[in-house]
Amino acid sequence: MAPAPGDFAGVLRLPAGADVTLRPVSPDDGGALQAYVRALSQQSRYNRFFAALNELPPSELEHVTHLDRHCELALLAETCILGAPLVIAEARYAFSRERRECEFALSIADAWRGKGIGTLIMADMERRARSLGAERLVADVLRSNEPMKALARKAGFTLADVPRDAKLIRIVKDLAPSRTARPPRVGGAPNLPLAA
Ligand SMILES: CC(C)(COP(=O)(O)OP(=O)(O)OC[C@H]1O[C@@H](n2cnc3c(N)ncnc32)[C@H](O)[C@@H]1OP(=O)(O)O)[C@@H](O)C(=O)NCCC(=O)NCCS
Repeated sequence: MAPAPGDFAGVLRLPAGADVTLRPVSPDDGGALQAYVRALSQQSRYNRFFAALNELPPSELEHVTHLDRHCELALLAETCILGAPLVIAEARYAFSRERRECEFALSIADAWRGKGIGTLIMADMERRARSLGAERLVADVLRSNEPMKALARKAGFTLADVPRDAKLIRIVKDLAPSRTARPPRVGGAPNLPLAA
């Protein structure tokens, strides 16, 4: 199969100087991804998945590790500790050709927050969304999730209400500012955030 437009690995250079690898999830990553999710704090898992889960359901884990990669991709950020790779963040996006928008979600391991990884992954999401031809980058975020709202504002997103769901807001970044901006379509948005 030909490589998908956004299907490439890269290196994130943190402001403090360390390098972190960001690469697509492969079918062999189920164990590492599940271990990462289990190690997140309960609050982090709730903010990421909007549910009080301790781990990814097996069906979801199977799905995430076998995406077709053309319009949907899951990514892992890894560092190396004592010679062994350690997953320290994950992200996922799905591109809708019909809406011409890319929806994403991400999480950073609790011990790795505040180091600029979220900012770098959001910038990476933006590059991948542009390469797919998306006109908007969007995510649903719990209204109570102040860190993510602050990160989104800093990254140039606007925050909008989600009709019929007061607990969520939608963050939106227009990727085609030279054209007349179309209002984001939220009516058909999924109820659950993208799993890892
Ligand atoms: C939200 C989240 C992704 C931020 O990741 P991060 O790597 O810590 O973010 P960064 O280090 O790049 O921070 C960038 C900016 O975000 C804001 N921010 C991040 N954490 C914050 C916090 N705890 N309180 C307030 N603002 C915060 C700040 O403006 C920060 O800029 P500054 O460092 O100059 O002050 C991370 O806290 C997380 O994984 N949360 C759990 C999962 C989640 O909420 N996912 C969102 C669902 S889409």
